[in-house]
Amino acid sequence: MDFEKEKNRVFDIIAKQNKWRGGECLNMIASENVMSPVATKAYVSDFMHRYAEGLPHQRYYQGTKFTDDIEDMCNDLAKKLFGADFADNRVISGGVANVCVFSALAKPGELLMGPGTPAGSHISHEKFGAAGVVALNVEHYEFDFERYDIDVEKTVAKIRSLKPKIVTLGGSVIQFPHPVREIRAAADEIGATVVYDGAHVLGLIAGGEFQQPLKEGAHVMTASTHKTFPGPQGGIVLGKGLDEKRQRKIQNRIFPGIVSNHHVHRLPAMAITLLEMMEFGKDYAKQTVKNSKALAGELDRLGMKVLMKERGFTVSHQFIADVRNFGGGTKVADALEECNMIINKNLLAFDDVNNAANPSGIRVGTQELTRFGMKEKEMKQVADLMVRAIGGENKEKVKKEVVELRGRFKEVQYCFKG
Ligand SMILES: Cc1ncc(COP(=O)(O)O)c(C=O)c1O
Repeated sequence: MDFEKEKNRVFDIIAKQNKWRGGECLNMIASENVMSPVATKAYVSDFMHRYAEGLPHQRYYQGTKFTDDIEDMCNDLAKKLFGADFADNRVISGGVANVCVFSALAKPGELLMGPGTPAGSHISHEKFGAAGVVALNVEHYEFDFERYDIDVEKTVAKIRSLKPKIVTLGGSVIQFPHPVREIRAAADEIGATVVYDGAHVLGLIAGGEFQQPLKEGAHVMTASTHKTFPGPQGGIVLGKGLDEKRQRKIQNRIFPGIVSNHHVHRLPAMAITLLEMMEFGKDYAKQTVKNSKALAGELDRLGMKVLMKERGFTVSHQFIADVRNFGGGTKVADALEECNMIINKNLLAFDDVNNAANPSGIRVGTQELTRFGMKEKEMKQVADLMVRAIGGENKEKVKKEVVELRGRFKEVQYCFKG
């Protein structure tokens, strides 16, 4: 093997990725974001080489005194920012957070209930995903197709009747607040735990621009730390009013249960992002939602069927559109990618879950465009470019305009400088 050549190939691939996704694309995958330059600087350190099994100050390995300091800092800042009395930053992703929490709060064969994937849940809440991997049974809430949202009344009746151990809220498609208070009231009747999966909306919650699940009654909030919350790729578990027993069970599931090395180099970058969100989160979250509404509205005006129009499309960072008239989600997502606009195809609530290869919809998020300083004016331009790309206009021409637009928004905003 020519090692020099292969080594260069690695750096060539990195350079291409940085140039393309990092500099020439309009990135609108609703689950992605970019860290600030200061957080990025904090990401690469000696911590990336180390282990720290166990809880801070109760480790199984030596050499962890500074890991304890940074992990304490992350837990304290997270509790403050999210109004929690329990925080654990050791889960290395949102999916891992769900595995730990679900397996801690219910035994194999017991029931978890949630909205269901076509209605917006993440696969980790499904029988064919993490919930099934830890041997839970899964039932879905009732869906109101007219409002395109959870049917609260019928769902409460179903919860009373099926008596699940865990009820979940939050999801991967979430344009409007979920009925946390109502589901908590039903959960209290049967002794179930309410888990809100805030992976998508954590940054909006941090900025005070979405519902506050822990204040509204969720016992636990799991999340990724890299979607609307623009931190390092990782996860977090937060709790409020959770009894000692359930808290300890969750922590035991994290370690020694599932996570051994918790990728401690994430923690300094997480601490910086928590501080940045305390300082700039409100403005960032507010503009993200404004942009989401603006882009959804303009796409709708230009002929795309954006869902939940009657309710104003969205009050989060994302919206979904029914693109069957344009050939379905796969065709539209491919056409946009050819013009450097990156979104994902998405199941809609009426889709068969087995038809994930060509679902009816697309999902679009504005959190990354906002992070680079785009506002409502640019959203109009983005909508115009999207519709032209899907409409079959010359791809090179549209792509050139996309690259030019992106080129004007290169610096991360809403963060510390220097
Ligand atoms: C609602 C929700 N929960 C959990 C996850 C999994 O998070 P991660 O990719 O951090 O494992 C996702 C991923 O997009 C998600 O949308």
